[in-house]
Amino acid sequence: MEKFAIILAAGKGTRMKSLLDYKSKVSYEILGVPLVKHVLNALKPLELKKVVTIVGFGGEVTTEIVKDESEVVWQREQKGTGHAVMQTKPVLKDEKGATIILCGDTPLLTTETLNGLFEAHINNGNQLTLLGARIENPQGYGRLVINDKGELVKIVEQKDCTEEERKINVVNAGVYVFDNELLYKYLDLITPNNKAGEYYLTDLIEIFKNHGHKLGYSIMDGDEEMLGINDRNQLAYAAKLMKRNINKRLMLSGVTIIDPENTYIGPYVEIEPDTIINPNTTILGNTHIGQRNEIGPSSYIENAKIGNDNKIEFSKVINSEIGNQNNVGPYSHIRNTTIIKNKCRVGNFVELKNVVLADDVAVAHHSYIGDATIDEHSNIGSGVITANYDGKVKHTTTIGKNVFVGSNSTLIAPVVLEDNSFIAAGSTITDNVEENALAIARNRQENKADYAEKIRNK
Ligand code: UD1
Ligand code: CA
Repeated sequence: MEKFAIILAAGKGTRMKSLLDYKSKVSYEILGVPLVKHVLNALKPLELKKVVTIVGFGGEVTTEIVKDESEVVWQREQKGTGHAVMQTKPVLKDEKGATIILCGDTPLLTTETLNGLFEAHINNGNQLTLLGARIENPQGYGRLVINDKGELVKIVEQKDCTEEERKINVVNAGVYVFDNELLYKYLDLITPNNKAGEYYLTDLIEIFKNHGHKLGYSIMDGDEEMLGINDRNQLAYAAKLMKRNINKRLMLSGVTIIDPENTYIGPYVEIEPDTIINPNTTILGNTHIGQRNEIGPSSYIENAKIGNDNKIEFSKVINSEIGNQNNVGPYSHIRNTTIIKNKCRVGNFVELKNVVLADDVAVAHHSYIGDATIDEHSNIGSGVITANYDGKVKHTTTIGKNVFVGSNSTLIAPVVLEDNSFIAAGSTITDNVEENALAIARNRQENKADYAEKIRNK
């Protein structure tokens, strides 16, 4: 059977209390990934024929996030969840199969749960299958009205509940699988005759029931997975739950996380066994970390590829690659497609931008190296700066093998220091230095005897 998905993501998210009129609720991030993208990720393994996202408030921002993985349909005015689904008619109404409808603000739903709902729907020959949850406090949710034969009869929204119905603690999680043809057949029967004056998608339960169709449901225990984000407090709570799940998965796969409560690892990050993650560390994006590394404390790593046996502490590594057996930090900043090969030392207050370090290079203290390559066994002294920018364009610095650059030198790019050259400390290098040469570019020192006393007595 062919499968489809509709993601509802047009709502304003008033309770986020943002002053930005372009920011949709589903664009808020958890562990570096927008809410709606978490939903797309959960759907991805289900091999859907079409995914359609309904955007509205802040729709441009949402479109940017989803457009590679989903078709986009606009709902210009938000008149309810049923009205939202009506907008998808042009894209889906002629399809045959099963269509899952869910919300873009429920980042914790898992592939297993969504797949389970599809399977229940197909295996039981249902025309509508719904996900519910039994929860302690049903406040705010639609209640499932189930008769004594165990049949789902209808959903009543909080605002429309009778005194009795309000006590029901089995609620609608907002995830449904519909027979696609019947969905579009009955959608127009929804009316806004309720307290909110909205077109409720949930009215379809009663409509399907009254037309004699087969309804099914499955009930989860608790509401963790179905948690919908409405405000920034829930955003933080969902982030906490997701963080806990990711850290647990990594720990069970052989990664040591010293303080899981204070370690923030994104959903795409891969870490191999016997790596240790120290506290206050954030690892996001498409990052891969190999074995036996020690990462952190207090490091930020994003979109990085890190090999084995490295130590990276109190440092930031973005869009870069680090090979094996390197020491980075404390307080290093590695960025913009830098490649550090093996056995290098990058130390205190060193910034590397678009740099390649070959094996066994040391840049140990207080340097800025940008747009440079440094070949094997070279040593960059403390406070060396590549002056790579002339105010208009960037220039490159090329440093050969076994070069020694003395402390506090400035290398004015473009410049080449050939293999085995030696730069005296405090030099300002404007010209290339040939193999084996010593370059010294500073004023010669002059000592004036007894002058110190003269100055003091002035
Ligand atoms: C909805 C369900 C409720 C369920 C709850 C689960 C209805 C009528 N009620 O209520 O039974 O318990 O979800 O969380 O469906 N949206 C649009 N366009 C609109 C209105 C909403 O795209 O015109 C989107 C929102 O962005 C959101 C989702 O639909 O992602 C749910 O809308 P919301 O207003 O939050 O519905 P609830 O009142 O929470
Ligand atoms: Ca909601």
